[in-house]
Amino acid sequence: MWRGRHVVLGVTGGIAAYKSVHLARELTQRGATVDVVLSRGATRFIGAPTFEAVTRRPVRTSLWEPGTALEHITLGEDADLVIVAPATAQLLARAAAGMADDLLTTMLLAAEAPVLVAPAMNDAMFANGATAANLRRLVERGWHVIGPAVGELAEGPSNRPGRMEEPEAVIAHGERLLAGEGPLHRLQVIVTAGPTREMIDPIRVITNRSSGKMGYRIAEAAWRRGAEVILISGPSSEPVPYGVRLLRVASTAEMAEAVRAHLPTSDVLVMAAAPADFRPRHPSAQKVPRRDGGLTLALAGTEDILLATLPERHHRLTVVGFALETGDAVEKGRAKLIRKQLDLIVINDALEPGAGFDVDTNAVTILDSHGTLTPISMRPKREVADALLDAIERYRG
Ligand SMILES: Cc1cc2nc3c(=O)[nH]c(=O)nc-3n(C[C@H](O)[C@H](O)[C@H](O)COP(=O)(O)O)c2cc1C
Repeated sequence: MWRGRHVVLGVTGGIAAYKSVHLARELTQRGATVDVVLSRGATRFIGAPTFEAVTRRPVRTSLWEPGTALEHITLGEDADLVIVAPATAQLLARAAAGMADDLLTTMLLAAEAPVLVAPAMNDAMFANGATAANLRRLVERGWHVIGPAVGELAEGPSNRPGRMEEPEAVIAHGERLLAGEGPLHRLQVIVTAGPTREMIDPIRVITNRSSGKMGYRIAEAAWRRGAEVILISGPSSEPVPYGVRLLRVASTAEMAEAVRAHLPTSDVLVMAAAPADFRPRHPSAQKVPRRDGGLTLALAGTEDILLATLPERHHRLTVVGFALETGDAVEKGRAKLIRKQLDLIVINDALEPGAGFDVDTNAVTILDSHGTLTPISMRPKREVADALLDAIERYRG
């Protein structure tokens, strides 16, 4: 996504300027050419040599440097994306007023690429009507805003927005802007992820080894392609991907209910979760005491979420299932695709090392209802997610 892209990164004078070093480094490592422009305020917080070292490019700080006469125009003109992070209250005010009194504001006024700003400031400064009005004006002119987040500020704890969003989130948002209007743009995608949990008593549960990693990577990748993503997740310790709407559920019945509720407005359903297939027939309201001779549990089957959606599927909906099998995986997957009337199925062989549960890589075969088989060799789950979304886009035509 970033390889060969030209990013202009404006940095202004706040404590969060240190986060921009990480941002510049990440973008450079992902293959982008990053030109950093520092405001006068920014140079009080961080020096140009740090950015020069991570980007391997000259850093600009002034309109008046010899040999750079037209850069206030050419920098923004050539860029695929302009990011300002952190953006101070002062920068927002000057940009909203259309001022051009330094290299950064002049470049912003001339830029034709999408502009993404990550405001960062004291929470009262951000809540101030002047800042809010400036930001509104910039959004009306087409600027994109990420954050600020709620959380610890340099001056102490806060429960109001002020803190700069993390570089990873800025990168995710940047990717969504660079992706433009692809086939998933503005579609609603439901992704289910993780295990579900069935109570034996208030303390003990039946669950499985699913980590949620695959579903979380799919949700993240779909959001970066411009989709509105609802991630319905069982218990998982994976960090919530930026931009996706997370609905946490516990049991298979709760997951089924959440899927059903959002199906009518959705375009794609990706069932990457591993819902528990069985639940205790008689869960106990009290903790079952330890006893000699053990305990025999009677189990009932849980609802099959994909089958339960059959009557509610509309004709625009693309339904993607997962089959985690041990042995004869493709044939078992094909049978599941037919039985559950799926459009695509992602087939995993759980016994293959480096594939399946709780690892960061996966090797899968994608089968669609026309019989097309796409083998995806072992690779990070992030890349498997992209390969799956490519397959979904191709299938939808
Ligand atoms: C220690 C310190 C921290 C600051 N942090 C912020 C900040 O996080 N956000 C902000 O909008 N202004 C902050 N300011 C104020 C700006 O640095 C000041 O408004 C400056 O004029 C911004 O200039 P610039 O936008 O050209 O970088 C801070 C000032 C100081 C002294």
